[in-house]
Amino acid sequence: MLILVAVLAYLLGSISFGFVMARLFGLGDLRQIGSGNPGATNVLRTGNKLAAFLTLVLDAGKGAIAVIAARLLLGETAAQVAGFAAFAGHCYPVFTRFLGGKGVATFLGTALALSWPVGLISCALWIGTAALLRISSLSALVSAALTPVAAFALGRSDLSLLLALLAVLVFWRHRGNIVRLARGIEPKIGK
Ligand code: G3P
Repeated sequence: MLILVAVLAYLLGSISFGFVMARLFGLGDLRQIGSGNPGATNVLRTGNKLAAFLTLVLDAGKGAIAVIAARLLLGETAAQVAGFAAFAGHCYPVFTRFLGGKGVATFLGTALALSWPVGLISCALWIGTAALLRISSLSALVSAALTPVAAFALGRSDLSLLLALLAVLVFWRHRGNIVRLARGIEPKIGK
């Protein structure tokens, strides 16, 4: 049963809403725009704020829905499996030859559904860093790195391992951004 949950959550996660919004709003090929990433930050670079917002909400929502549905049907272990699978689907989607996104919105949605206090801290870390520095990737890295710590501090150490694994993958998916950050050439949000 857990395998079925993982497969369904992976397929849901594989729907890249950045590409869907680009098609719906006629934004062109996201792979040829900005960072080439099908995430909300890069959709925003097209200038379409609504499309970027919808990408953020829907990419987060697919992680949250996978977790909540699995929890309702089969309990907490299934919820964690579904969260991981949806995240993996976003980063390595079967529908676009495994060329996916960086997982940030799906990470936030998954964290919120696994534990809303942990998820709120995760979102607050992203928003706080973005408000200060206006760099999306750095905000994501700060949020991802500290979310497992937040889970531990809030007495949800049962979530720390999964969140740490997701954080490692977020860092892996941002390796190009990390190089640009180190060189001081990472663009600010909206640029
Ligand atoms: O959500 C992805 C973000 O952290 C970085 O996006 O397009 O600047 O590489 P981008």
